[in-house]
Amino acid sequence: MADLFSEIEEPERNEIRALRKELEEQNYKYYVLNQPSMSDREFDEKMHRLQDLEALYPDMYDPKSPTQHVGSDLMKGPSDQVPSTKGKAFETVKHKYPMLSLANSYSREEIEDWVRKLPEGVEIVCELKFDGLSISLWYEKGVLTRALTRGDGQQGDDVIQNIKTIPSIPWRIERNDIPERFEMRGEVLLPWERFEALNKEREEQEEALFANPRNAASGTLKLQDPKEVARRGLTAYLYYMLGEELPGKTHYERLEKAKEWGFQISDAIKVCKDVDEVMAYISYWDTERKKLSVATDGIVLKVNNLAQQEELGYTAKTPRWAIAYKFPAEKQLTLLKEITYQVGRTGVVTPVANLEPVQLSGTIVQRATLHNEDFIRQLDIRPGDRVWVEKGGEIIPKIVGRADRNDEMSATPSLNDGMMYSFPDVCPECGAKLVRVEGEAAWRCPNEAGCPPQIKGKIEHFVSRKAMNIDGLGEETIDLLYRQGLLHNIADIYSLRSEDIAVQERLGEKSAQNILDGIEASKKVPWARVLFALGIRMVGETTARKIARVYNTIDNLQWATAEQLCAIEDVGPQIAENIVAYFNDMSNLEILERLRQAGLQMEGESYQPSAASHQLDGMSIVISGTFAQHSRDEYKEMIEQNGGKNTGSVSKKTSFILAGENMGPEKLKKAESLGIRLVSEEEFLEMIQ
Ligand code: IVH
Repeated sequence: MADLFSEIEEPERNEIRALRKELEEQNYKYYVLNQPSMSDREFDEKMHRLQDLEALYPDMYDPKSPTQHVGSDLMKGPSDQVPSTKGKAFETVKHKYPMLSLANSYSREEIEDWVRKLPEGVEIVCELKFDGLSISLWYEKGVLTRALTRGDGQQGDDVIQNIKTIPSIPWRIERNDIPERFEMRGEVLLPWERFEALNKEREEQEEALFANPRNAASGTLKLQDPKEVARRGLTAYLYYMLGEELPGKTHYERLEKAKEWGFQISDAIKVCKDVDEVMAYISYWDTERKKLSVATDGIVLKVNNLAQQEELGYTAKTPRWAIAYKFPAEKQLTLLKEITYQVGRTGVVTPVANLEPVQLSGTIVQRATLHNEDFIRQLDIRPGDRVWVEKGGEIIPKIVGRADRNDEMSATPSLNDGMMYSFPDVCPECGAKLVRVEGEAAWRCPNEAGCPPQIKGKIEHFVSRKAMNIDGLGEETIDLLYRQGLLHNIADIYSLRSEDIAVQERLGEKSAQNILDGIEASKKVPWARVLFALGIRMVGETTARKIARVYNTIDNLQWATAEQLCAIEDVGPQIAENIVAYFNDMSNLEILERLRQAGLQMEGESYQPSAASHQLDGMSIVISGTFAQHSRDEYKEMIEQNGGKNTGSVSKKTSFILAGENMGPEKLKKAESLGIRLVSEEEFLEMIQ
């Protein structure tokens, strides 16, 4: 019998293990990388399934299970993930009160049940559930002293310098009715308008887009540059006050007080007396929230009376006195009229669904991405199908499924049926034969130099703000000049003459002069940005800067091998291959020669072979661990600039070890046995000052 049971049980035990691993990985992608690969709904469903299974198998209880702790935004990977090599930029501080999460449900019935089970006469405060990232603000004697992210719920990163850039968060409260010490919790958000502007900018710079305002806010709060944080325009709504001697007997009274003290508290908060009022609130905000300037993903219900809250208490992860109702992601069924194909700047061909227009999240959607060939095949999607289109905070609406096909419709030719219909094999823009790199889902047009959207896209990237910053040469002008045969590649920009530009329709002499001034000014743009502007695949702004620091002239870079390039921080085999391929292409070399002739900066100004000091003369220094203030490459450079030599392994000859956090155990052991000194980064910086 026992055997029979364990046989039945086994698959579920395995499912528990698999779900724990999957959810842990998702937590990491969501909180640390800001790149979730699963919808919130899918995540919640899996979490609920895991909770149910764990209840069935109590012997499998594990305090480390994702059901027992909240996701962590601290900069480290889950146990089996390679830890990040990034230095620790923020101080990690223990929360005074753990930062819990909320139980949630997508079902109105479950919410009704939750309300009905509360003791009779209990008041419920209904609030919007803001979709940003939670923050804990500590005030001492009215002064903001700490601003911690949720972290792992027990400790968080202090991001106070960034938080201080948010106008709606007071730095100082000058009133005599505030407690000596208190904590405010709330949500940091990037308003829709700011989010869209940021993504537009990133698109121009060819940087990865943020999937939604939450990810954008989270990425922004972890930046090292408060000025950039300020520029992006975060805001914050506060929804919870904690501390020892606080005013009021109810949650609502405290929020009213907080509003008086100058905190931004939402106007949408309502005290509800019964389940009907709660449900009416949910229905109202389900549609009304679309008019708000920030993202919301549900409603939070909280027991109003603080004594009653205490009585209800907490589970390991959530308060029992609160629950969240989550709005379902907005989806609509509509007719797929046609599939067309769009060619991007890098030649990737994306299938696009042309739809019968449909209203979704406040806008009319008529086009949505079908991702790639495999996606279309897996879902067996064909023109004539009715498909589900979703716009759940993502930038581009996407097709997420199709309705059952009735017999009549199945007569439409299928993409699965290779004989009748298949992904195009030639580029819809230039007719070149498409290629599909093994292991990649995308088909690409290889005709980089002759395919119009690729040509124009490369020029747009070249002139963009973070690249050569040529004012006046926008998308439309580039298109115009391209069609006139005046612009075919980035080097042509430097052959443009005033009369070429001024004769174009809509372009007068003044704007022509403006463009020419921008072109002239671009000749002073430093080498690192020129390298970024060239648009080598996957070489973004930061990577270009790192490469330019090591290869300070284009000639050096041109002869670098993939192996050598891989030694640069952030450069992996794929990027290295792309760089090598770029310099192997004759047409690129011709363009580079023309750019050189035009007078562009092809050498790094920052290259200073002379030593900054002789402080480290003759010393042999090993770098180990992760650092907070500078990257490893920067320390390497500093060692060399101050006369020292950076070596890889610890030996008798090692003068000292520049030791960061989490130094490798082997190196540590060896250093101890040889009696070699460990120098912290602070000491080191002082040393060379
Ligand atoms: S109260 C102990 N109120 O939702 C309860 N949370 O999924 C503390 N959130 O971690 C949370 N809007 O980041 C509360 N009006 C609101 C909220 C809210 C958004 C977030 C918060 C929390 C998460 C739980």
